[in-house]
Amino acid sequence: MYLGLDLGTSGLKAMLIDESQKVIASADAPLTVSRLHHGWSEQNPADWLSACQVAVGRLKERHPSELAAVKGIGLSGHMHGATLVGASGDVLRPCILWNDTRSYVEAAQLDDDPRFRAITGNIVFPGFTAPKLVWVRNNEPDTFAKVSKVLLPKDYLRYWLTGEYISEMSDSAGTSWLDTEKRDWSDELLSATELKREQMPDLVEGSQAGGVLKQALASEWGMTGPVVVAGGAGDNAASACGMGTVANGSAFVSLGTSGVVFAANDRYLPKPESAVHAFCHALPATWHQMGVILSATDALNWYAKVTDKTPAELTAEVGDTLQAPSEVTFLPYLSGERTPHNDAAIRGAFIGLAHESDRAAMTQAVMEGVTFALRDSMEALKAAGTNLERITAIGGGSRSRYWLKAIATALNLPVDIPADGDFGAAFGAARLGLLAATGGDPLAVCTPPETAETVEPETALSDAFETAYQRYRALYPAIKPLSG
Ligand code: XUL
Repeated sequence: MYLGLDLGTSGLKAMLIDESQKVIASADAPLTVSRLHHGWSEQNPADWLSACQVAVGRLKERHPSELAAVKGIGLSGHMHGATLVGASGDVLRPCILWNDTRSYVEAAQLDDDPRFRAITGNIVFPGFTAPKLVWVRNNEPDTFAKVSKVLLPKDYLRYWLTGEYISEMSDSAGTSWLDTEKRDWSDELLSATELKREQMPDLVEGSQAGGVLKQALASEWGMTGPVVVAGGAGDNAASACGMGTVANGSAFVSLGTSGVVFAANDRYLPKPESAVHAFCHALPATWHQMGVILSATDALNWYAKVTDKTPAELTAEVGDTLQAPSEVTFLPYLSGERTPHNDAAIRGAFIGLAHESDRAAMTQAVMEGVTFALRDSMEALKAAGTNLERITAIGGGSRSRYWLKAIATALNLPVDIPADGDFGAAFGAARLGLLAATGGDPLAVCTPPETAETVEPETALSDAFETAYQRYRALYPAIKPLSG
C-alpha cells in the first residue's frame, strides 16, 4: 500500500493505492486562505498538519488494515509558498502562498538582474518564493534574521512527517533559486537575495526517497513497517505523474483554483520572454513547460459568491450545449496574471454588459474568459517550441461539459476525458511513494489512464470563438493603463 498526500490550497487530500495502483480510498480535509490585505494570501502551516491528521484519520477509520500496510508516502503541494522556519523548526510567520502578489516590486527588481532568467529559465514572478523572502527582509527584518530554513509547503509537511529538511526538483524549480538545467540550488541566486545554501533543504528527485516517517506518527496511524517518504512533487508535476504526462509532448489542461496548460519535455526548454514556466519534472532527467493562469475555477467561485449561488447552480443555468461566445467578455485577472502578461497589478473586468446580460450570460462569460486565458497559455507554449496535438482535461472545472467544449473549440484541440477515476495530484504523489519504496521504473509506473471520451472542437463555432478570442486579446492592453 502507498499513500499520496496532496496539500491543495482549498484542502488536503489523502489517497491510498495498492501495489497494482488501484485506488483503495481517499479522504479530504478542508483548508482556508486568509487574505488580510489586497493581494495577500496566507495559510497557517499548523492547519496543514491538522488537515493531514484529519484526512489520514478518516482513512484509518475506514481502512485500518490497508493503512497499516503502507510502505511509501508521496507528497504533493501547492507550489512557491514561503514557509519560514527558525532554528528549532518553529514556524516564524504564516506561509505566503503562490497566489500572493504583495512582492511584485521585489519580483520585478530580481527579474531585472539577468542572472535570474539565465539560471532558472523563468521570469521571477511575484508569486515565486525568492521575491517573498526579499519582501520579508524589507518589511519584517526580525523575522528574516531568524530564518533557518525556507521550505515549500509540502516540504514543511515532510518536515513534520520525517523530521528532515528535504525538497525535490519540480517544486524547487518554482523558487527562483534553482539552476533548472543542472537540478541544483544556485549559490549565486541565493546570495543575490542574501540567503545561503544552508538555509535551503537538501534536494532529491521526486521519485527517490526523501526521508522516513517518524516512528510516533507511524504508530499513531497503525503503520507497521518502515515507511519511506518520496521526494514527491509540486502539485502540477504530481498531477502529471498521476496522468502519465511524462513522455515528451504529452499535455494536460488543469481547471483547478488556478489553471494550467502543462506539457512534458525530454529536454530543458526555457523561454522566459513568453512567460512560460520551464521547470524540472518529478522524474529524473525530465522537464516540463507550463502556462499558468491565476484564477480558473477560482473565477467561477468568485462569481458564485457574488451571486449567492453555487458554481454547479451557475453552470446548470448555462446548460451543456455550447453556444457562440457571449457578447459579454470577462477578464479573469482577479489576482493578477502570470502567463502571458506577468502582471500582478492587473485586475479582472466584465466588458460589454447590456440590459439583457443576465446571470447565465455572465456565467458563460466567466467560463469563456478562463478558456481564453488558457488559449493564451497554449499560444505561449507554442512560442516556446511546443505544439500540442491533443490535451487531457483534469481538475474540478473539467466536470463542466460546457467548459470542456469551449476549451476544445477555443484551443482547436481534441480534449480527452480520462476514464472514471481520480488521477490528480494525490494519485501522482502516491505513485511517487510507490516508486521511492520499490525502486520501480518510473515510466512503467506513470502511465496514462484510459480515455473515456474525447471532446472535439465544435468547428461550426470556431470562427465565433476566434473572433471572441481576438476581442479578449485586445482588452488587456486596453484596461492596463487603468489598473493600479
Ligand atoms: C504553479 C502554481 C499553481 C500552484 C497552486 O506555478 O502557482 O499551480 O501550484 O496549485
